[in-house]
Amino acid sequence: MSAAAERCRSDMKVLIVGGGGREHAIAVSMKKSRRVEKIYCVPGNAGIAQIAECEPSIGVMDFDKIVEYAKEKQVDLVFVAPDDPLVGGLVDVLKEAGLRAFGPDKKAAVLEGSKAFSKDLMKKYGIPTAAYETFDDADAALAYLENAEMPIVLKADGLALGKGVLICNTLEEAKAGVKEIMLDKHFGSAGNRMVIEEFMTGREVSVLSFVDGRTIRTMTSAQDHKRALDGDRGLNTGGMGNFSPSPFYTKEIDDFCQKHIYQATVDAMAAEGREFKGVIFFGLMLTPKGSKVLEFNARFGDPEAQVVLCRMKNDIMDVVDACIDGTLDKVELEFEDNAAVCVVLASQGYPVSYEKGFEIKGLEKFEGKEDYYCFHAGTKFDGQGRIVTSGGRVLGVTAKGATLKEARAKAYEAAEWVDFANKYMRHDIGKAIDEA
Ligand code: AMP
Ligand code: GLY
Repeated sequence: MSAAAERCRSDMKVLIVGGGGREHAIAVSMKKSRRVEKIYCVPGNAGIAQIAECEPSIGVMDFDKIVEYAKEKQVDLVFVAPDDPLVGGLVDVLKEAGLRAFGPDKKAAVLEGSKAFSKDLMKKYGIPTAAYETFDDADAALAYLENAEMPIVLKADGLALGKGVLICNTLEEAKAGVKEIMLDKHFGSAGNRMVIEEFMTGREVSVLSFVDGRTIRTMTSAQDHKRALDGDRGLNTGGMGNFSPSPFYTKEIDDFCQKHIYQATVDAMAAEGREFKGVIFFGLMLTPKGSKVLEFNARFGDPEAQVVLCRMKNDIMDVVDACIDGTLDKVELEFEDNAAVCVVLASQGYPVSYEKGFEIKGLEKFEGKEDYYCFHAGTKFDGQGRIVTSGGRVLGVTAKGATLKEARAKAYEAAEWVDFANKYMRHDIGKAIDEA
């Protein structure tokens, strides 16, 4: 079938790999697509199961089983959402099996998979980021710290569930951090190598983008809240809530980043023979000396996908196809002129230890309510057909409003509709909006 005829089809079958709030948001966007008839998801969760057929027994790293399942269900596309399978090369495996896949291949996903790689890339191509050094052994790292300015930032090279970054205020803390990462292997093999970098100050903003190897189209901006407790205290988590757009991400900042960061990153990857197709997530710090890259992710963020995709006007399948086919230059992304806020309802004790298996009540209150979304993250069905908690982040309650303040009020209102035994949330998601 020709590409044009393909695009007119309305009977597509799609498989989403992943099982969190991000994948639920992607599934909701696909459900809206005029072209998708059936959605499958592995492993999925209790929320995704309302709009897709899930197979909870298949994990995101079960590559052979995913290939087998995709073939059995005769899917037209596999959308790989999480970092681990992308960095592990699932897209390569799918393509070798003759399946159409969305997401960067292994060579390109290293942009997220190795902090040392991404820092070296930025240095080589003049993309603004914090000054840094890379270390393969602990003694050299410890010696370097003796003359370094504090605070300083230590980063395990590999994937560490978003937790492999330590911000150290004193030399003692920094030395203990090197020991934790490189000797005690707190983050496993992710800590065989580490980056030590300059501490930057400023506001953080996340900008997600679609990339087809050459062309990049950025989505609306968002701001995450990574720490577990109110006032940005406590441990780093996968994200406790966020809002979109960021009022601090001005036109002037966007112009700078479009010119010096976004296209430059895509061009750099292509020049390295690592053509990137998929989603690049730019974690930026708006420092007093200009915008700089904090990190790259090779995928949608979680919960960034929740606040960004619900505001996107395009049919997601058109954009996904354009990324795979290299025709993104023909696509303009459009976003609603409104705002969205997501408040994560977590299990008390996340990200360290927490109890699971509690029944979640009140989910039906979201039914038929426009502009309110209850994205499931850690949920599953128990033996009796009840929906129970099954993870640290349980739900991402999201609301849209005409303004950020309205969206925030609605999200916190809806956060009260649901209840479970050890429900925990931050109460200051979007507080920065008041300073804008
Ligand atoms: P990353 O996983 O690299 O985004 O780091 C996690 C969090 O650590 C970021 O969202 C920032 O809040 C913080 N962080 C990382 N690198 C730096 C830096 N160089 N200066 C200040 N804060 C940083
Ligand atoms: N929310 C940040 C991430 O997905 O990495």
